[in-house]
Amino acid sequence: MREKILTVDEVSYEYPYQSVKALKNISLSIYKGEWLAIVGHNGSGKSTFAKLLNGLLLPSSGQVLLQDIPLTEETIWDFRETIGMVFQNPDNQFVGTTVKDDVAFGLENRGVPREEMVKRIEECLSLVNMYDFLDQEPHHLSGGQKQRVAIASVIAFQPGILLLDEATSMLDPKGRTEVIQTINTLRKQKNITVVSITHDLEEAALADRIIVFNEGTIFAEGTPSEIFTLNQELEKIGLDVPFPVKVGQKLKDKGIQLNEVPFTVEGLIKELWT
Ligand SMILES: Nc1ncnc2c1ncn2[C@@H]1O[C@H](COP(=O)(O)OP(=O)(O)O)[C@@H](O)[C@H]1O
Ligand SMILES: [Mg+2]
Repeated sequence: MREKILTVDEVSYEYPYQSVKALKNISLSIYKGEWLAIVGHNGSGKSTFAKLLNGLLLPSSGQVLLQDIPLTEETIWDFRETIGMVFQNPDNQFVGTTVKDDVAFGLENRGVPREEMVKRIEECLSLVNMYDFLDQEPHHLSGGQKQRVAIASVIAFQPGILLLDEATSMLDPKGRTEVIQTINTLRKQKNITVVSITHDLEEAALADRIIVFNEGTIFAEGTPSEIFTLNQELEKIGLDVPFPVKVGQKLKDKGIQLNEVPFTVEGLIKELWT
C-alpha cells in the first residue's frame, strides 16, 4: 500500500490583482518515496502549484494536507520543514560567501547545534559530490555545481519532500545530467519523495509517475509509458515529445509492432532489436 504524504484537495488559485485563474480545482496525491514529475507548457500553473505546496501562496478554495495536517497560516512551518524547494536560477539561491557557509545558513536559522551542523554540511556536500568545494566561493562554480550545492543546502535540514521547480532548465546537458543523477541518488539513499516540475519530457521520462498540467487543470496522469502513448495530444498542448517517442509512433503507424512506445534512445534501440 502506497503511503500518502501530501494531498491536494480541489485546490483553485486566482491571482488577486489581475484575477488570473492559475489553477482550477486540482486534486492529486503525492506518495512517500516516489519521484513525481509535473509537466506542462509555460503558464499552465506549475509554479503556482509549487508555491501552494509550501504556503508561499494559500489556495483561493480547497485545501492542501501534509498527511492529515491542513495547510494554514499556523501550520506553514510544518510544511516548510517537510518540503525543501530548489528553483530555476542557481545564482539567486546563494546566501553564503563559501559553499560551506551556504549550507550552514539554513541550519543556523533552525538552531542546529554546531557539531551536528558540521556533520550535516560534510555529509550533504559529499552526497551531491561537492565535498571538495567546501571552501570555494559560489560564483566560481558551474551552473550544475551551483544547483547541486542548492540541493545540499535543502537536504541539510532533512526535508521529507524535495520539490524542484525547473531546477535543471538553466543548465547545459552535462549540468542537467549531474543534477538528475544527484536527485536520484538522494531519493534512493534517504528515501526522499521527489517532485520535479519541468517542461522537459525527457527528464520527466525518468520519473515514476507524471502529471500533465494544462491551462491550470490536470490533463493526464500516469506512468511515463502511459503518458507517452498520448504523443500527439501532448504536442497539441504545447509539449515537446522526445525524439524516440516520435520515431516509435511513426513505426507503429507503419504497422511495425512494438511492445511499448519507447521514450529513451536505449529503449528505442531495444524495441527495434527484440
Ligand atoms: N504574480 C502573478 N500575478 C498574476 N498572474 C500570475 C502571477 N504569476 C503567475 N501568473 C499567471 O498564472 C498563470 C500560471 O503561471 P505559472 O504558475 O507561473 O505557470 P508555469 O510555472 O507553468 O509557467 C499564468 O497565466 C501566469 O501568467
Ligand atoms: Mg514556472
